[in-house]
Amino acid sequence: MKVDGKPYRTIWLGADGTTVQAIDQTLLPHQFVIRDLRTMEDAERAIRTMIVRGAPLIGAAAGYGMALAMATDSSDSMLARAYTVLMESRPTAVNLRWALDDLRALLAPLPAAKRREAAYKRAAEICDEDAEICRRIGENGLGEIRRLKPRGDRLNALTHCNAGWLATVDWGTALSPIYQAHDAGIPIHVWVDETRPRNQGASLTAWELGKHGVPHTVIADNAGGHLMQHGKVDFCIVGTDRTTRRGDVCNKIGTYLKALAAHDNGVPFYIGLPYPTIDWTLEDGRDIPIEERNAAELSRIAGRTASGEVVTVDVLPEGSPAANPAFDVTPARLVTALITERGVCAASEAGLLSLYPEQAKAA
Ligand code: MRU
Repeated sequence: MKVDGKPYRTIWLGADGTTVQAIDQTLLPHQFVIRDLRTMEDAERAIRTMIVRGAPLIGAAAGYGMALAMATDSSDSMLARAYTVLMESRPTAVNLRWALDDLRALLAPLPAAKRREAAYKRAAEICDEDAEICRRIGENGLGEIRRLKPRGDRLNALTHCNAGWLATVDWGTALSPIYQAHDAGIPIHVWVDETRPRNQGASLTAWELGKHGVPHTVIADNAGGHLMQHGKVDFCIVGTDRTTRRGDVCNKIGTYLKALAAHDNGVPFYIGLPYPTIDWTLEDGRDIPIEERNAAELSRIAGRTASGEVVTVDVLPEGSPAANPAFDVTPARLVTALITERGVCAASEAGLLSLYPEQAKAA
């Protein structure tokens, strides 16, 4: 996607052929800064501190993390260490495990001298593949959007967190159909949940929709139910960090409450789902590990002052404890459909297997 007319991905290989570069998402929307990742530890820190975030981008960054490790030391012990260190960077998005398993399976049988080149090649392929998957999710989602009847003169979508191009390598998952609808001339407007505590909606989704010229309005996280009751939301669409075999959907904290409100008001609730985000090993969403992040993300908030300075302020009374579960699970029964790169299916094991028959368990 473009930033001020210049095409960008969220992560890419630098001109020296070793350093990896990524947009620093902790500084948006106030500053647009590119970070250099020179070591596997830099990649791990970028994932853990959310310089890069969003399930598909976490996977892509982990792929490059393995490549950076191999550029330093391509021994068996480094391969094992990089796998362990990167795996522990964030627990919920299964794309991390998917990318690390992929790289390890590729690299382990190779002689050490061949691992560096193979790792960089595969990391680049993962990035290209993610961009193509997301483009196709957009195409398939556009088909769904064309079938929806707007209640007013425009189609109103509601999204939570950031599942746009910033959360992936390019295009986004939930936002890809919205970009494609907008580009096709469909009048579409997006209600953007601010997504406390880290404000991925207010800071990232609003920023990228604005850069692409998509009409949008940021709302408090608690406003969605009210808007749905008043017929102001035609459909909800969100991303996912891990979707189980039976279609339970784990996504940013607060997604479940939106799904409940959508269900109560007859509003379709869609998920943009790339295949590396499906955890075929789990049935029940309650088994997904939910990241508990630092309470300081809740007690402190960053913003820009009138003079342009970016500052962080405390919002809680001194001494009040805070808890920060970062994800929740929306049960499959509340999901209208899963929009994947292969097509659209019901949120159920049968639905997923109709698109991914190779995942059927051997009898
Ligand atoms: O904590 P984050 O910002 O990494 O959480 C991201 C989300 O919850 C996204 O909705 C999800 O990764 C889908 S991204 C296409």
